[in-house]
Amino acid sequence: MIKWSNKYLLGIDIIDEQHKELFCIAGDAYDLLKNEFYIDKYDKVVKLIEELKRYATFHFETEEKYMMEIGYKKLFSHKMVHNDFIKQVNEIDLEKVDENQEEYLASIIQFIVDWIEQHILRMDREYVSNSQFTMHNSQSKEK
Ligand SMILES: [Fe+2]
Repeated sequence: MIKWSNKYLLGIDIIDEQHKELFCIAGDAYDLLKNEFYIDKYDKVVKLIEELKRYATFHFETEEKYMMEIGYKKLFSHKMVHNDFIKQVNEIDLEKVDENQEEYLASIIQFIVDWIEQHILRMDREYVSNSQFTMHNSQSKEK
């Protein structure tokens, strides 16, 4: 099961909302894949994975803009990690006819979610502590 949890909260509303949306799309794709009542669900699942890719790209742009605004020093390397993920995801052949297509699609969704989860908990947290530091500094300078 793929579910949002408050442990992913960073405290930056726009980014938290987008992270929630990523989990939501992935959860929908997974639920649909596991739903046994639909006859023709593969196209729908593939569409949702495509949507997940599209939204991840959009979300990374938001994050990179935010990191730029706070003057985050590791912006470049963070951006490289985003680009690398998009590249990996783009290399996945969703139409691949696999003997076990359900397992294949489930593993793709799981890969994307695991990556996003680890990324939020590690790399994204770093720019948050940096932004608090920056804000704290600028506040103390104003005094
Ligand atoms: Fe990120």
